[in-house]
This record gives sequence, C-alpha cells and structure tokens, in this order.
Amino acid sequence: MINKVRFVNPVRNYHMIKDEIDAAFFDVMEKGEYIDRSHLKQFEENLAKFVGTKYAVGLNSGYDSLHMSLRAAGIGAGDEVIVPAHTFVASCSAIVNVGATPVLVDVTKDFNIDCDKIEEVITEKTKGIMPVHLSGWMADMPRIMDIAAKYNLVVVEDACQSLGASINGKMAGAWGLTGCWSFYPFKILGGYGDGGAITTNDPEVAAFARRMRYNGEDRETGEYFGHGFTCLLDNLQAAFLDVKLRHLPEGIKRRKQVAARYKEALSDLPDLLLPHYDKPGFDHVYQNYTLRSKQGSEFSDYLKKNGVEVLTQFRKPYYKHEGLKLVDRGFPETEALSREVCSLPMNVETNDEEIEYVIKVVRSFYGK
Ligand SMILES: Cc1ncc(COP(=O)(O)O)c(C=O)c1O
Repeated sequence: MINKVRFVNPVRNYHMIKDEIDAAFFDVMEKGEYIDRSHLKQFEENLAKFVGTKYAVGLNSGYDSLHMSLRAAGIGAGDEVIVPAHTFVASCSAIVNVGATPVLVDVTKDFNIDCDKIEEVITEKTKGIMPVHLSGWMADMPRIMDIAAKYNLVVVEDACQSLGASINGKMAGAWGLTGCWSFYPFKILGGYGDGGAITTNDPEVAAFARRMRYNGEDRETGEYFGHGFTCLLDNLQAAFLDVKLRHLPEGIKRRKQVAARYKEALSDLPDLLLPHYDKPGFDHVYQNYTLRSKQGSEFSDYLKKNGVEVLTQFRKPYYKHEGLKLVDRGFPETEALSREVCSLPMNVETNDEEIEYVIKVVRSFYGK
C-alpha cells in the first residue's frame, strides 16, 4: 500500500533509461568533447526534425532562448512586446532585459493568452507578441499569427512547456520567428541541469544565435559580429537530451494515458475544472496536469498532507511582485486561477498504483 506520491522522481526516471544515459556519458568523456561538438550538432539536427523547422540552436536555458530571440528580432528600447499575465516570470524578464516594455494580457480558462484582448493593447510601439504554450497545451497560434500579420509584429513562441504539442499537425515552436525551449530537468524533455534551444526556419536568426552564444564569434572565420554571450548548450547535456528525445513520443503516449485516467476518475467532481479543452486540431501533451479547484489552498494543502506532492504555480501572479515594477492593469482570469491552480503528479516515472492513490486522495477531499 502506498501513501506517498512524488511530483517528480528523478532517480527513478534515470533508472528507466540508465544504460543509454551512461553510454552517452562515456561516449562524451572518452572523446573529450565538451563545447560545441558533435553531440550538440546531432541533438540540434534531431530537435529541428522533431519540431519540423530547418534549424535548432542549443543554448544554456529557456530564458536565454527567449532573450536571444528578442535580440535576433531587433527588439529593444522603446519597443513594446505583448506577453500573458499568467506565465513563468522568465518570459517577461527576457523582454525587460532587452530594454523593451512588456505589455501584459489576461489569459482564458485554458491558461493561455486571451486572443480577444490582444488587439486592445497594440500601439505604434508594439513590435512583438510572445505567446506562451503552458503545460503542454498551445496558445491559439492560427489567430495569433493572423493578428501578427495584420500589425506586422514578430512572434516569439515561449514553447518551454510544450515540446511535442501541435495544432493541426504543426508543432509548437514552428510557427513564430523562433520557438523557445527549456530543458530544465522537470520539463517534458529535461536534462540534468539547465539547458535550452531555439528552433527557427530563418537562416539569419540561426546564424545570429550561433554567433551570439559564442561571444559573437563566427567560428569558421573568427570574426566577431557583435558583443555576445557565453550561453551554449553543453555538449554533454546535448548527448543526454538526444537520448531522452528518442523516448519522448512514448513518454507523451504515457502522459495522455494518465490524463485520460484522471479525466475518467475526476470528471464528476463539480468543484474541479480539469485541463481538457474542446478545440479541434489541438493536441495536448500534458507536460503538467494543472486543474483548478474552487477550494484553492485548502484542496492543495489536503493533498500535500495526505502524501501527494502537488505544484501550485502561481498563487501570487508575477506582476504582483513589487520588485518587478510591472503595471497591473487588472487581470481577472489570472487572479482567479492563481487562487485555484493545482498541478497533480504527471510524469513517465509515476506508476499506475501511484496515479490511483492520487485519485483516491482527491476524491476523499470531496467526500467521495
Ligand atoms: C513558460 C516558461 N518560460 C520560460 C522558462 C525558462 O526556462 P529556464 O528555466 O530553462 O530558463 C520556463 C521554465 O522554467 C517556462 O516554464
């Protein structure tokens, strides 16, 4: 009988593919290849193929992929970029750190940007839109691309939480000027430390990122093209990620199976809003299974007390942190979901018995 379910179990996850990960480690160590070498190139090729873009460029975090993309788009001081009010703070920080102004827009019940509210905030200073695909579910990219075309705006997709998601077969990260990826350990494709990448079809953007990640240097000619950064994805991380990318399709299948079981077992509870949306053509990959409970922290505290680790990101919206000096124009949906949000365990390493335990605890909270 189990009485505890972890949100993630990195050691168990490692043991599921230990032989392949260990082989990748020894291959890198025996070759002595650490920076910008064959494993990185191989992973970039495979990532681009998976997403369906011409190029992928490995960087050292999701934040860097956003920052690099905005720079590649020439966005800076005096420009405005539209970003959702509900996201991880890094989406917004990348905009601030290139000198531009973030303009926040509320989200809808699916946690993603409310496309009906985008045009209201477009001004002559607006240069870009950064839709965020949260939890494995994409923002409405057909609509966003139409709005961007109408106002001549750059689209940088924050796809950090949605590798493998798609709309009508077109993958997250293949719509905008760039798709931005994070390989933080607990992402759907997680490394063993920080990591990130951009995907793009634009050869200039790919070349820009390749140079700027290496202090602005063109590695073939030695010419410096600008003041850059040191922000490559490590060759060793790339070798690990390439192994894990091979397992991603089967991992997505498992996530969908777990999501279907949660849906089957919890749909009768009227105080829960489950993350299943009726949008034809949209494919959810469930990086997270984030539901809303009317009972908010009372619900999430009960789960924790009964051994179910959950995430409640974010009880305090990022724009409410005074140190970030952002303009709070009032975002009612973001505020409501922030009180109610709760992510249940959702991982390839979580087994059926554990999922049943989570279900039992959730149901018992509602007296079922
Ligand atoms: C939506 C979103 N954007 C950006 C990031 C930043 O990624 P990283 O932590 O790799 O910098 C993350 C990851 O935490 C994220 O979830």
